[in-house]
Amino acid sequence: MKGVILHGGHGTRLRPLTHTGPKQLIPVANKPISQYVLEDLRNIGVKDVAFIIGGIMPEKVKDYYGDGSKFGVKVKYINQDKPAGIAHAVGLTQDFVGNSPFVVYLGDNLLKGGISDIAKEFNQKKYDAMVLLCKVEHPQQFGVAEFDKEGKLHRLVEKPKEPPSNFALTGIYFFTPMIFKMIKKLKPSWRGELEITEAIQLLLEEGYDVGYRIVEGWWKDTGTIDDILEANILVLDEMEAKQEAAVEGVCIQGRVSIGKNAQVKKGAMIRGPTVIGENAIIESEVYIGPYTSVGNGTDVKKGEIENSIIMENCIIDINTKIIDSVIGANSEIVTNQKGPKGHKLIVGENSKIVL
Ligand code: DAU
Repeated sequence: MKGVILHGGHGTRLRPLTHTGPKQLIPVANKPISQYVLEDLRNIGVKDVAFIIGGIMPEKVKDYYGDGSKFGVKVKYINQDKPAGIAHAVGLTQDFVGNSPFVVYLGDNLLKGGISDIAKEFNQKKYDAMVLLCKVEHPQQFGVAEFDKEGKLHRLVEKPKEPPSNFALTGIYFFTPMIFKMIKKLKPSWRGELEITEAIQLLLEEGYDVGYRIVEGWWKDTGTIDDILEANILVLDEMEAKQEAAVEGVCIQGRVSIGKNAQVKKGAMIRGPTVIGENAIIESEVYIGPYTSVGNGTDVKKGEIENSIIMENCIIDINTKIIDSVIGANSEIVTNQKGPKGHKLIVGENSKIVL
């Protein structure tokens, strides 16, 4: 089986974080979202993976994943000049896929427990395609499944105003090369994209066997900042504590992971689940609260942080508390020690600050 990871798109809802890179590289518990995806594919024995790249700074994807050898797979990059739809992106992989069955995994989707059971069922039952569904509260925001009386998949519809069920299509699809025939028949949808949902609908209409499974744990499409923070909670909730640096005299409660060469100074308090990256520095007066990810090389000199993602190489030196925040790499947040009272802000476009 081959693997395809969608790593293009513009990530507009995640600006300003996506002004400087693709959304799929945003870290959750200190690891890019698409790395969880790649590891999921590798864990079911996929050795050849194609990344569809395009949109914002695609070279960052190449820099991070290289030829894939660091991650135990062989990686090929396929350029998509504009985000013309998931089906358009999948259509670009026909030569890479050849005659093999393959998995398409959206690079911004996270799934608890991985895809090995689904892959087994797809192989055993010899379906022409298989989708993974998840019960959601707002099906209007997704592709939605409709079932017949016997519970078989009957129809799939993209972002319906009146959803026929609460079962959303997740961004994880198992295909045979038959899907390429359907993609060639597609016309752009109302949002100007070639929809993979419609390609699978064509498979159904032409009598092909499309299987499905319902997500048993959790699934997260990380399209917004709130989704990213929620994903951080879900992943940290399952993380095992692993301390690779000395933490003598530090008050540690709950599951806390500390990376290599990190310095957590005596007197600091860290309450898990939390991850502190490699080479990070946590000074002695600092409190890091639950559901926080502190990136590699970040220096927290003073302050309190809870339920937040602080990316790599930041400096935090504050007299206050940061909560529910996502701070991009190389940012500096400090308390104004001198000068007139007030907040000095140098903020990129599309930022949101709640003071
Ligand atoms: O997350 C599940 C949903 O994903 C499904 O329920 C929908 O049926 C499916 O259409 C898709 O909907 P979204 O509107 O959430 O898709 P989005 O435009 O966010 O793109 C999903 C991923 O694919 C994202 O990582 C960007 C990437 N992408 C997207 C497009 C349109 C590409 O690489 N190229 C593209 O042309």
